[in-house]
Amino acid sequence: MICDIYNNDCIDFLNSTEYKFDLTFLDPPFNQNKNYNSHNDKMDPVEYWNWMQEVCNKIFDKTSSGGAIYFMQREKNVKDVITVLEKTNWTFQNLIIWKKKSSAVPVKNKYGKHYQIIVFATKGNKPRLFNKLRIDPPLLVTEKYKRPNGMYVTDVWDDIRELTSGYFAGEEPLRLPNGKRLHNQQAPIKLLLRIILSSSKPGDFIFDPFCGTATTNIVSRQLSRNSIGVEKDKFYFQYCLKRLKAFRDVDKIDRFKDDYKYTENLEEIWGSSYIVKEFKPSQLTLFEKKQNYK
Ligand SMILES: C[S@@+](CC[C@H](N)C(=O)[O-])C[C@H]1O[C@@H](n2cnc3c(N)ncnc32)[C@H](O)[C@@H]1O
Repeated sequence: MICDIYNNDCIDFLNSTEYKFDLTFLDPPFNQNKNYNSHNDKMDPVEYWNWMQEVCNKIFDKTSSGGAIYFMQREKNVKDVITVLEKTNWTFQNLIIWKKKSSAVPVKNKYGKHYQIIVFATKGNKPRLFNKLRIDPPLLVTEKYKRPNGMYVTDVWDDIRELTSGYFAGEEPLRLPNGKRLHNQQAPIKLLLRIILSSSKPGDFIFDPFCGTATTNIVSRQLSRNSIGVEKDKFYFQYCLKRLKAFRDVDKIDRFKDDYKYTENLEEIWGSSYIVKEFKPSQLTLFEKKQNYK
């Protein structure tokens, strides 16, 4: 299996790659004037959305028929995200609300912001596959009985904690030797687990053009999916390699398997028929296929 990271600009990579992808997680810089090592996060909005359009267009060309994209953004940009996806021929499927567990962002004269959006779209009307996951949310005080088989995941995700720097930070965020977070936009393992489980199967090809800390690769490889990440910044890229090489317990997905125990085809889509073979720094071809996925 392939698990590879390229230190490149994602447009340059897409212009030259021969790969075809079944699923893309698109988590670009949000143009919010955040501090990135080697990216200007304060572009002219027209320039920014033209760039996003070019990225979505190129990904579309490299996507298998019925393949999926999950485009994550700030809630205020929902209109632009859908417009860009439609202009580049993607078919809208869902607007996912990722409801934050941390405090809302306070705003003057309007409601505080408490969610991020993820637009799920496909190449063509019909997704090539969609695994209907079941979760088992805790009983609310207003509910009398626990559901015997959990419930299907809906388009509101309120059970995934974002990685913060405060009290609830936990061990998952990568840290520099001085204790500071390496990358403020590191996505949670749990988020990628849901996306990859829902829209792919073992052996598929997963793509992350703005891979940051390689969260997508980390989850893909444990689910027996091939994965390609692209990260422009050399410093983050080095940490991606480090994270993939020195695999941390906190990056293991097995601790979340029980959350999906009511999913009908869980064993089939979890991909446990593959094992990790070895880790090599640059060409990270990590897996030995133990038996064919049927
Ligand atoms: C929002 S972060 C992604 C975080 C990632 N999802 C994670 O879990 O770590 C966006 C990343 O895109 C990178 N980036 C910015 N411009 C890029 C480009 N043109 N090509 C590839 N990567 C780029 C930034 O350096 C940053 O690490």
